[in-house]
Amino acid sequence: MDNFVFQNRTKIVFGKDSVDNVGEETARIGGKILLVTGGGSVRPTGLLDKSVTMCERAGLTLEFLEGVEANPDVESVREGVNICRSKDVDALLAIGGGSVIDAAKAIALASQYEGDPWDLFGKKIKPESALPLGVVLTLSATGSEANGNTVISNRALGRKAAYYHPELYPRFSILDPTLTYSVPADQTAFGSIDILTHVYEQYFHTAKDTPLQDGIAESIIQTALRNTPVALDNPTDYTARANLMWGGALALNGLLSSGAKGDWACHIIGHELTARYGIAHGAVLGVLFPAWMKKIYPRDIDRFYQFAVNVWGVTPNTEEKEKVVLAGIEVIKKFYKEKLGVGVTLKDYGIDDKKFDLMAEAATGSGTLGGFAALSKEDVRDILLLAL
Ligand code: NZQ
Ligand code: ZN
Repeated sequence: MDNFVFQNRTKIVFGKDSVDNVGEETARIGGKILLVTGGGSVRPTGLLDKSVTMCERAGLTLEFLEGVEANPDVESVREGVNICRSKDVDALLAIGGGSVIDAAKAIALASQYEGDPWDLFGKKIKPESALPLGVVLTLSATGSEANGNTVISNRALGRKAAYYHPELYPRFSILDPTLTYSVPADQTAFGSIDILTHVYEQYFHTAKDTPLQDGIAESIIQTALRNTPVALDNPTDYTARANLMWGGALALNGLLSSGAKGDWACHIIGHELTARYGIAHGAVLGVLFPAWMKKIYPRDIDRFYQFAVNVWGVTPNTEEKEKVVLAGIEVIKKFYKEKLGVGVTLKDYGIDDKKFDLMAEAATGSGTLGGFAALSKEDVRDILLLAL
């Protein structure tokens, strides 16, 4: 196990009706609040009205930024920063999925920086402070509710970039599984694939002797594999939604990467695909990860063998490890296609090979990509071809 520092300040308020605490929790972090929401899913469920009432009852003054798009654009961040400055906002409340939370995080930080918000992502500028942020999560997927990451798109430049800052951990996150009952089937499936892929990205690492990390990772994966089909069959199954919600937060809150840094190549390649084709984050990951496995397994057959046997239940056969690994890849694809109902090739999403060179170049930049297996531009191209 490698040395590490684990620090995560986010207070998680979990459970049925935990959203009733939104006024009280938000009042602890500020008085003049920018409430950030997405394209409208918070309205028909009554969540927005309920949250506003509770915040007002707690004595808070509210400003609003509505309509944050999926894969949030820097334009929305600019709009939010302007509101924060002109209205003297002192804290933010994000109510939504990863896109809304990430936009709110970027606003919280960029409002403390004099230049353009895209500088944070393009030039990796690190302001010293950020406005405090609270979260009400409505979709189990990204883990943004419990980490210091934000991912923002710049459609004008055709880019999508991730950014980390310790000040971006939410002060609190309300995780009420009943708020995810209304998530449609495709977003439920994409969200679970995102959770799963966060774990895979960290499971494939180069640290030695990590049975504890491996065991936690395998358990989160099995939790998602068991509960996603249940949530798809019955969207109001509380136990399934609760397991997915807690699994999503644990998958990317720093726990799994403590002592074993992961890979993350599939995420970086995925951002290139989303930036150019607009397809959902979880959708691209579902296609890319099996292709990445196919390309990479010869570099560490034992790790992939362990993954196929422990996680995907392929019958062990130490004499024919390669066969076991390849069977594991097919089991993943079959599960995604048949149990989750998602595409498993780029063609399923209408993507051809026209931009593969461009994306491979953009993903690798001047170096290589991936903490577990270093990928050259040519390797990335091969992975995209395998995903076709
Ligand atoms: O916009 P609204 O109307 O809210 O609708 C959303 C959106 O259309 C809808 N939705 C959310 N909760 C719902 C609901 N619909 C009905 N009922 C509910 N309760 O679902 C759609 C997708 O929402 P979005 O927030 O875009 O999805 P997700 O949570 O998957 O977030 C994706 C974004 O997060 C980034 C991704 O790259 C992408 O930009 N990520 C952020 C990470 C982080 N900050 O740590 C890590 C991830 O790897 C990821 O990169
Ligand atoms: Zn992700």
